[in-house]
Amino acid sequence: MALLDLQTGTLLDRRDGPAVLLDPTADAAALAAAAATGGIVGIHFPSFGDGRGHSLAVLLRERHGFKGEIRAVGYLIPDLAPFLLRSGFDTAEITDANDVGTWQRALTRIKHIYQPGFRNPAPLRRDASRKEASDLDARLAEIDDLAFRIAELRRSVKGRISFSTSLGLEDQAILHAIAESGADIDFFTLDTGRLFPEVLETVELSEIRYRLRIRLVSPDAAEIEALVARDGVFGFRQSVENRLGCCEVRKVRPLNRELAGAAGWITGVRREHSDTRAEVPFATWDAARALTKINPVADWSTARLTAYISAHNIPVNPLHSRGFISIGCAPCTRAVQPGEDPRAGRWWWENEDKKECGLHMNPHREGKAA
Ligand code: ADX
Ligand code: SF4
Repeated sequence: MALLDLQTGTLLDRRDGPAVLLDPTADAAALAAAAATGGIVGIHFPSFGDGRGHSLAVLLRERHGFKGEIRAVGYLIPDLAPFLLRSGFDTAEITDANDVGTWQRALTRIKHIYQPGFRNPAPLRRDASRKEASDLDARLAEIDDLAFRIAELRRSVKGRISFSTSLGLEDQAILHAIAESGADIDFFTLDTGRLFPEVLETVELSEIRYRLRIRLVSPDAAEIEALVARDGVFGFRQSVENRLGCCEVRKVRPLNRELAGAAGWITGVRREHSDTRAEVPFATWDAARALTKINPVADWSTARLTAYISAHNIPVNPLHSRGFISIGCAPCTRAVQPGEDPRAGRWWWENEDKKECGLHMNPHREGKAA
């Protein structure tokens, strides 16, 4: 048996064992107790293909804020290495020290070490990335034309840039500018399973107009089944907590999976959307996702956006002409009256200050959007 450091791919000369060893069936109370020990938490993988250990590690990090060492033990094969890292493991007990080379190769297959927000293995790189993002922010502020902004961000950010599009007005303007600039950018829509059919029609219209394919990204089927079994089909109406749980499974986790390994993320967030978004920059370092988040129309007014859409005859969601402004999932979006707040139709039964789904929350700015 040998102990592998998953961050560096090296063997560790340590003999310490886990303070607690969790079985894949561990419940929330067992996780909370394990997190409270503050010692090394071992998670047991009893068989090949049993992925429950990954979910436990994610829960320990995200729900219980555990910052200590999480160790994988049991039936482990090198192919698991990237998944162990992503789900928050630090170390793995491997059966044969001679296999370390195979583990290292598996680890180097991942371009970026992605862990959801709880640790950053490279503080120096993080500082440089923050500076690069703020320099890009300043340059984008100097550029007026949207297609030129896209070209500039493509030039500046090295590596894959992904654009998450909800097919909203902002996203359609950005899609048009991407097509116009010819920039190599990957785009996808989070197909939550609850989208309006009109959103999917807009996907098709856009694909025809711009001769491209928009990838539809689905949530994890087992996670959806567990969520619906626990909360019911419309459980998200019962409490803010349930609603955030639904957004987490249907949007946030698929988004994070999709953005793993990306260097940049483009969104259509605008400052006019709401008070929580009033200060969003053009570009910022998203430490939790280890990428530069770019909001190329952050400063646009609604008047400028609609003028751009009509000047270029850009296809839009037909729901906009029926009183819908900000459009999310069908059961959580209603039309708004003239003069109402643009986001008034989103989760309308909740308080204004709760109206984010987690995609754009910035943990470093006390709940403000980034
Ligand atoms: S939300 O967080 O309240 O749902 P909003 O609808 O304002 O977000 O959209 C802001 C940006 O989030 C969009 O421009 C888009 O980049 C991203 N986004 C929101 N929903 C989706 C989705 N279903 N698929 C892909 N991106 C999305
Ligand atoms: Fe679930 Fe509504 Fe969030 Fe869609 S917007 S993921 S249906 S809570």
